[in-house]
Formats: sequence, structure tokens, C-alpha cells
Amino acid sequence: MNDSISRAASRREFITNSTRVAAGVSALAGVAIPRVHAATSGTIQVALVGCGGRGTGAAGDALSVTNGPIKLVAMADVVPAKLNSSFDKLKTKFEGKVDVPPERRFLSFDAYKQAMDALKPGDVVILSTPPAFRWVQFTYAIEKGLNVFMEKPISVDGPTTRRMIKLGQQASAKNLKVAVGLMVRHCRARQELADRIRNGQIGEIVAMRAYRMGQGGGTSGPLPAGVSELTHQIGHFHAFLWASGGVFSDYYIHQIDECCWMKGAWPVEAHAVGGRHYRGDSLDQNFDTYTVQYMYADGTRLFFDGRNMKGARDEFASYAHGSKGSAVISTLSHTPGMTRIYKGQNMPRVSSRKDLPLAPDPNLVWAFPQPEKTPYQWEWDDLTDAIRNDKPYNEVQRGAEASMVASMGRMAAHTGQIITFDQMMNCPHEFAPDVDKLVLNGPAPLQLGPDGKYPIPEPGIKKDREY
Ligand SMILES: NC(=O)c1ccc[n+]([C@@H]2O[C@H](COP(=O)([O-])OP(=O)(O)OC[C@H]3O[C@@H](n4cnc5c(N)ncnc54)[C@H](O)[C@@H]3O)[C@@H](O)[C@H]2O)c1
Repeated sequence: MNDSISRAASRREFITNSTRVAAGVSALAGVAIPRVHAATSGTIQVALVGCGGRGTGAAGDALSVTNGPIKLVAMADVVPAKLNSSFDKLKTKFEGKVDVPPERRFLSFDAYKQAMDALKPGDVVILSTPPAFRWVQFTYAIEKGLNVFMEKPISVDGPTTRRMIKLGQQASAKNLKVAVGLMVRHCRARQELADRIRNGQIGEIVAMRAYRMGQGGGTSGPLPAGVSELTHQIGHFHAFLWASGGVFSDYYIHQIDECCWMKGAWPVEAHAVGGRHYRGDSLDQNFDTYTVQYMYADGTRLFFDGRNMKGARDEFASYAHGSKGSAVISTLSHTPGMTRIYKGQNMPRVSSRKDLPLAPDPNLVWAFPQPEKTPYQWEWDDLTDAIRNDKPYNEVQRGAEASMVASMGRMAAHTGQIITFDQMMNCPHEFAPDVDKLVLNGPAPLQLGPDGKYPIPEPGIKKDREY
């Protein structure tokens, strides 16, 4: 067995073993390092770092768990309006569980430290800023002995992926519980589908398809007067590769990850095409279209299509095709999954809610019963259960690999080259090496060129880095 295939096999084993249990226990887990008290029947305190749309949603999911007392005690952001609106929403909906007086609402680039300082070891911090800051804030959380919920992607390039994997091992050594917001892994409908696929219900997977095609995204206008370039880039983080990995990493990671989970392996290489067609004066670094072939060690392919284009057809779904049948992994966004198995390879096309409910289909073999609980809630039920009952729980390795596999497809499209798993993992280009030293009014990691534009990928011209 050659080296890369054997590595792929051990990665496959990791994914298979983690189908049901979200935790991957680090090799350091048995080492005698002081372990943080994690299991608790008392109140879990939560701090929110990054009070935007998802952070507010994640805090709401945290406050909705029913397995024990929990409260939000601190909040941090860099934009006052974001923090205030998040606070107001949460306070209104979760009166009694939101105990964040003005002195525990922090606003600055170092606010994450102050919010974590307000917690005690064994509490939970939510990291939901743009992904670029993940490793910086995770480092501090480990130092403070905190359990962590961090949003995906958790890395944007090779160096930050390798750093996150090491940090994940340090967290396991301290018995910290760490969740990564690839919530579909916690969806009971997808878990049952994964079990059925493992049990051979669709035969051997021969191909997979996934689509994330919507009405645009990831654009950015010119720098408004009076706003620092860094504030602007953070506020438009989907536009800039250093901040988020662009729309490719930020939007597409979920479906790439769920397909790899069903396959039970990470792909060994990616080949991709894409281009900028109608981005007009937008100063971002994304393409409008991406199409990727991910290849697994056994030669099977995952075909992924991403499109960010107004007026074009929408689709937000993932499918697996097997030697005996086919499966729907995601029907129409992340939830409800409406997972199903069909005899043969034909299945109804669902582009919008107008295509629901599905008509009776003689080829339908199994469908997860509706309604389904949202995986955004399951991921918090599972994390807090692991904290209260001191179960091993660390999704960092898997989350970093998923982030890296997303980067691999993106880099293949952006450079016009085949990119292997090992090449991406070892890629030396770190987009923002000094992200831990940024100051809000200082220079941004990406600078305008002499033409007044930010550098963009140019496949075939820039081949060993994306810009
Ligand atoms: N799992 C999912 O389905 C899902 C859905 C949406 C977003 N997300 C992820 O959540 C993260 C946030 O996305 P969003 O949609 O909430 O974006 P957002 O812009 O609404 O929120 C980000 C917040 O972080 C703040 N921020 C930026 N830099 C900061 C820093 N250094 N310190 C403190 N605060 C900082 C911003 O001011 C903003 O309030 C992203 O990683 C995104 O991929 C996940």
C-alpha cells in the first residue's frame, strides 16, 4: 500500500469510527496533564465572542438545552451595534438566562480575552467571529481551561489547519470538550442515513454530487470614508480569503464534509474549474462559479458545483449514488435533512420549497420521519451532555480536516492545478500570519494593488498560491 493511500485509509478509519460519537480522542489524552473539571450538574456559564447572526443563533441554541442549567454571562465583539443587537435579541427571548451587565460586554480586538476571563474553567466559550481569528481565540480558551464551541471553517489555509490540529490535541490533553459547528454531523436523520449506507443499503458508493448554488454572495464595495480597511475587510469577511477562505470555504464546507462522512473518507485530490463572470466592480477575491471533482483513494468522485449568481437556478442539496441504489443526504439547505434512500439512481429534483411536499414515489425505499429537530440544537444537546457527563468530545481534528479539504477544492479552482490532500495540508502559504497582532486601525492583511483592486486568483498564472 503506498504511503498516501495508507494515510487515506487511516483517515477513513477515523471518520468511520466517528460516525456516531462526535469525539476524536487525542493521542495525548492519556498523558498526565492537569485535567479541567468538566462534568458538572451545576450551571454552565457561556461567553459569546462574535455577536453576529450565527453567534446569536448559537447562543440561543445553547440557552435552549434542557439537560441542565445554563446562562450567558459575557459577550465580545468589535462592532458596538452588533453586540447591542445580539444582546437585545437574546435578552428578549431568553429572559432569566441572559446575565450580561454592561461591565461584561466587551468591545475591542482583545475583547475575546476579557469575555473568557469572566468564565471559570469548565464553562463554554462560543467562537463565532470570522474564521481567521479561530486559532488565536482557541489558544486563549485552552489556556483558560474552557470548553469551546467554534463555528466552521476553523482554518483557511495549510498552516492554520496544522496549527488547529495541534491546538486540538492540547485541548484533549486538558480534557476540554470542543465542538465544531459542522452541525449536520449531529443530525439524527443524517446519522441514520450514514448507518444505512455503512450497512450496504445502497451498495458501494460509486459517485456523489453536491450543489450550493444561490443568488450571489461574497462581494465587497470600495472602502467607505472613515472606516479602517481592516474593519471593512472583517465586516465583509466572505469577500477575503484571509478572513474566511471566501465563499468556497465558508459556504461549501458543509456539503463537502457531509459527503465525505457518508463516503467514510477524505478525498486524496481535487481538480476544479471556476471563474469570475459578473462580479462588476466588486473588490472581492471570489469566483462566481466553481465546479470541483474530488477524488477518493478508490477512484470514486464527489462532484461539487458552487454558483453565486443572480438569476441562475438555485440548488442546495447533496446526493450519494451506490451500486444498488441512491441516497439524498441534504434536500434543501441544512435542515430539515429529509434524508431518503431510493431504489436505482432516479430521484425527484427539489430546487425550492415549491417542489415540496414530494409526490409518492414507487422507488422510495426509506425516508427519515418528519418533522426533524434541527441539527443546530442537536449539536448543543450533544456538547452540553458531554460536558455534564464528562464524555470525551473533541471535533477539532475532523473539523480542521474538513476545513482543509474545502481549501483543497478552492485552491484547485484558484490555481488551475490538481491539489492533493497532502499538498494542501503542507501548503506553506499562510494568508494572514500576523492575525494575532492586528489592531483595528492598523493595516489589514490584504492591501489594494496599484490598480485600486485587491489581488484575485488567476488560474494558470498564479499556480502555487491563490493570490
Ligand atoms: N454552521 C452554520 O450553518 C453557519 C451559518 C452561518 C455562519 N456560520 C459561521 O459563523 C461565523 C460567523 O458568521 P456570521 O454569519 O455570524 O457573521 P457575522 O458577520 O454576522 O458575525 C461575525 C461577528 O464577529 C464580529 N467580529 C469580527 N471580528 C472579530 C474579532 N476579532 N473579535 C470579536 N468579534 C469580531 C463581527 O463584528 C460580527 O458581529 C463564520 O465562521 C461563519 O462561517 C456558520
